[in-house]
Order: sequence, then C-alpha cells, then structure tokens
Amino acid sequence: MDIFHASILIVDDEQANVVLLERVLHRAGYTSVAFTTDPAAVLELHRQNQYDLILLDIQMPGMDGFQVMDGLHESKAGGYLPVLVITAHLSHKLRALKAGARDFISKPFEIPEVLARVRNMLEVRLLQKELRCQNDRLEQRVQVRTAELREGYIETIFTMTRAAEYKDKDTGSHVQRVSFYSHALACTLGMDKEFVDMIFIASPMHDIGKIGIPDHVLLKPGGFTPDEWAVMTSHAEMGAKILGISNSPYLKMGVEIALGHHERWDGGGYPYGQKGEQISLAARILNMGDIYDALRSKRPYKPALDHSTAFKIITLGDCRTRPEHFDPAILAAFLQNHAAFQDIFETVRGMDPTAACSCPLPGYDPFSLLT
Ligand SMILES: [Fe+2]
Ligand SMILES: [Fe+2]
Repeated sequence: MDIFHASILIVDDEQANVVLLERVLHRAGYTSVAFTTDPAAVLELHRQNQYDLILLDIQMPGMDGFQVMDGLHESKAGGYLPVLVITAHLSHKLRALKAGARDFISKPFEIPEVLARVRNMLEVRLLQKELRCQNDRLEQRVQVRTAELREGYIETIFTMTRAAEYKDKDTGSHVQRVSFYSHALACTLGMDKEFVDMIFIASPMHDIGKIGIPDHVLLKPGGFTPDEWAVMTSHAEMGAKILGISNSPYLKMGVEIALGHHERWDGGGYPYGQKGEQISLAARILNMGDIYDALRSKRPYKPALDHSTAFKIITLGDCRTRPEHFDPAILAAFLQNHAAFQDIFETVRGMDPTAACSCPLPGYDPFSLLT
C-alpha cells in the first residue's frame, strides 16, 4: 500500500489546529485525511475506518486524549494503537507513551517535525500490516496443504482397504459402515474429537490382513477345518504386521484394531485371548460395530437378520454371541445409541467413504477435524 493512501484521523477540539494539520498533510501528499473536533466520536470512527494513524490532542474538554486512548485500548483488546499524541505539556508525553501512544508531537508544533513523525509512524504501520497479510496468506497455504495431505492420506488408506475388500466379496460396504459405527460409539462414550476422527479413519483397516488369506479358505462357504481356521484367524496378526511399518497415528490405531478386533472382553477371543482392558479401546469399540454388521449381513452360514434380532442377540446372547463378549461400557453405549446403528446399516451401502458429503450422520464431516 502507498504510504500516501494511508488513512489518517486528526482529533483536536480547536478547529484552527485541525484545519492547519489537515492542510499540511494534504500538501505533503496524503490523500485520506479525516478529522473531528469531538473526542467522543473517535471510537466509533476508528471502528468503522480502522485508521492507520490517529493524531490525537491530549487536552480537550469533556473527554481528554487519555480517555480516548483508554476507549481505543479496550475496543482493540490490547492490539496495535496507531496514536500520535499532540501535547504542550512535558508531563503528558511520558504518560501518553505509557498509555500506548506510539510517539508524540509538541505544541506549538513545527511542520517538518509533524511530517517526519507522521511518515515514520505510517512506515511502521504499513510494514506491520504487510507482515500480517503475509502471515495470513502463509497460514492459509499451510491449511490448504495440510488438508490436501490429509485427504491424500485418507484416500490411500481407503484404497488399500478396498484391495482387501476385493478378495472378500461378503464384506463390501461393511468396511465403510464400521467407520460410522465406531464413530457413533466413540461419540456416545464421550471420546475427544481427535480419537473420534482417528477411529473413523482407522476402522476400515481392521480386516486388511485378509489380503494374505488364500482364497480357498477366505471364500469357503462351509465350516473350516482346524487348519483352515488357524489360517483364517491369522488375519488379525497379519493385518497388524501390514500396518505396523508406519509411524502414522492412524495406522498405529489401525494396528491396534487389526490385532484386537476379534478379542473378547471375557477373554474368549483371538489371537491372544486378551481380557478386558488388555484389549485396546479402539479394538473394543470396533468389535461392537463389526459384530452388529455381521449379524445384519447375509453370510454363507446364516441369513441377514433384522435390527431387532441383532439387538436381541447382542444384548441377550445366542449360541455364538454373548453380552459378556463386549466391554460393558461399550455395550451400554450401544444400548443408548442402537438406533444410529440401524440408520448406518440401512444408509451406508457402497458409498465412497472419502466423500465428506455422503456422510449419513448429521453434522459429521470426516474431514472436519483438520489439524
Ligand atoms: Fe476380522
Ligand atoms: Fe469386519
């Protein structure tokens, strides 16, 4: 910005001083000079115009320059105060500087001094504004780049997950739905935004280890032999190994989920038979959505069940699933929020999980938590 286009306000109760200063500044080339003889009007004028410089008389009737500065200070909440005070009293100079004025001019003033001080102040002011603009631009670019990186990252995770889906046709949009079940449960449990965001992104990776299971086992319609079962259950550790090479927090949670998503609260799960809080919280949360979705879905060994049947099996148990399999706090969160599970199952079918707009949960945008 050209220094001569900077906006200046002259405040002096004496009309003659105002006229003189305005003329001096105009002649020096300043094009945006306003004035007032009413100190009470300064605050509102500055709020509207955000002056680059206020030439402020100290001794004025009704409201003196110090009171004007106090008002400006309060309205700016400690921000930059572009005030150059005009005073005849030596004692006022120090007080004005302490009150936040940037500089002062002595009365009666000498025109070359006025112009030199005005110019100095405006140079500093404009440099400061330019710096702030550059910081804002930089901040914006960092935000855009962070968002791009994160989106690319999430896309990579979902692409990798889709590779596992192609092997196991039964899962289909199951891996996408588990993101939403986990999200709903984590919210109900009162987890913080970072965890909620992380589990949304990490959940689809739970079965990534199926990539390493031979098709004749993975796609077998009937029951497994003990050997086949051992191969099948190895997908948990295999998934953890696949994901374990990364330092990313998403993939670290992915490892926890892959490894622990078939463990049970009562210790009856696999691969390690871990119990209770030995199993990672993310895996315990994922497990609830995983089981609900499996109950609702058709499998070679079972038909698809409706919501109320799945609800009953989870809360009362059947020959395969028991309420003791679940963390009691997570089971309580499911009881509290099971209608959301029904909505998710009925809404999320083959959607693109990286598309924020297709999220079925009101108000949730998977990309809304950019950090
Ligand atoms: Fe699994
Ligand atoms: Fe699953």
